Amino acid sequence: MTTDLTQAHRDFPATERWTYMDVSARGLLPRFARDALVAHLDERMNAELDKHAYFDTIERVRGRLAQHLHAARDEIAFTKNVTEGLAAVAASIDWRSGDNLIVCPEIEHPANVYVWLNLQRRGVEIRMVAPRAGTLPVDEAIARIDERTRVLACATVSFAPGFRTDLAALGAACRARGVLLVVDAAQSVGVLDDDVAALNIDALAASTQKGLLGLYGMGFLYCRREVADRLQPAYLSRFGVDLGDASEADLGSFEYRLAGGARRFDLGNYNFTAAVSADAILGYLAGFGQQAIERYALGLSHRLARGLIALGLPVSGGEPGPHLAHIVTVGEMSQGGHDSTSDARMQSLHDHLTAHRVKLSIRRGVLRFSLHLYNTERDVDRVLDLAAEWSRRGV
Ligand SMILES: Cc1ncc(COP(=O)(O)O)c(C=O)c1O
Repeated sequence: MTTDLTQAHRDFPATERWTYMDVSARGLLPRFARDALVAHLDERMNAELDKHAYFDTIERVRGRLAQHLHAARDEIAFTKNVTEGLAAVAASIDWRSGDNLIVCPEIEHPANVYVWLNLQRRGVEIRMVAPRAGTLPVDEAIARIDERTRVLACATVSFAPGFRTDLAALGAACRARGVLLVVDAAQSVGVLDDDVAALNIDALAASTQKGLLGLYGMGFLYCRREVADRLQPAYLSRFGVDLGDASEADLGSFEYRLAGGARRFDLGNYNFTAAVSADAILGYLAGFGQQAIERYALGLSHRLARGLIALGLPVSGGEPGPHLAHIVTVGEMSQGGHDSTSDARMQSLHDHLTAHRVKLSIRRGVLRFSLHLYNTERDVDRVLDLAAEWSRRGV
């Protein structure tokens, strides 16, 4: 394992085969995580597993996630995916008919839309705002808040076109008005420095297969302690109640108290396998420092955006600015769908790049390049060279 970001690609065998710019779909699995998983499976196969050690791993990962987010250990619950984390919060609020929430669906992944739409049957009004220049218009969203607003839901980095949300402004406004800021961090976690404390985030959901470079099937929910302690989980579970030091299989006295903080959202046994890789990877990321990883990834995205603009390509959002995360998108939103676009020129550029072993994706009609610590300036320059070659062909 290296501690030099410019050499991180050596820990990711896939980089020998691909110019991989698709962390927004899923991250690359590092070799050391694969090795840890093989050892874990061997233990299981040989009946050498130690359930106490499994739980120790879970608690270590909980602590590492807390550190990663600038939170406390008891503010982290485990889920399967992003949707489950958001749904746990949505279902636990004591909504009253006539309450409302604010969301900007056009730029969100459906995970951060349907859980909220489901509340309409409880009389909750969904206040939809339209994006402005590809981002949630913070002033407008704040202006829609009234005394019945309970939640503002958004993403750290939008699903499409992949811009950063101005969370500092939103967080401060929501906190001052007693509105819960609930955030989908699927696109930023592991790449950017998601600081829930500094940004006044009340709840944040993410998963481990993208920027956290791990497996599908493990997600987590951060919920601010003070908020979590007021929420009543939709499911009451053994792991969600506080029975002191009793074993997880003890029945207790039926006089239960909900576990403190976000632990009340834990259900039953965990995805111990995904936790093994998460444990190794979170330790690896912490070794570089999340701020350094963010700086590195942004350096690459800025280089890529500038280079594509210089080639005359329609980079979403134009010149790099505060909107730009580690994701660079090209083309017009909504021309086409998932993995294809109705813009023949952009489709042709996509096909040219993929024919040369560049991995990227198309979402809501735009070409999406997404970068992480295993990318290098060489990767960026290779994509720019390929795009220039494509452009010279005059497609
Ligand atoms: C912004 C965002 N939210 C959520 C998800 C996925 O949600 P889930 O983990 O619930 O399937 C994705 C996956 O692409 C995403 O990009």
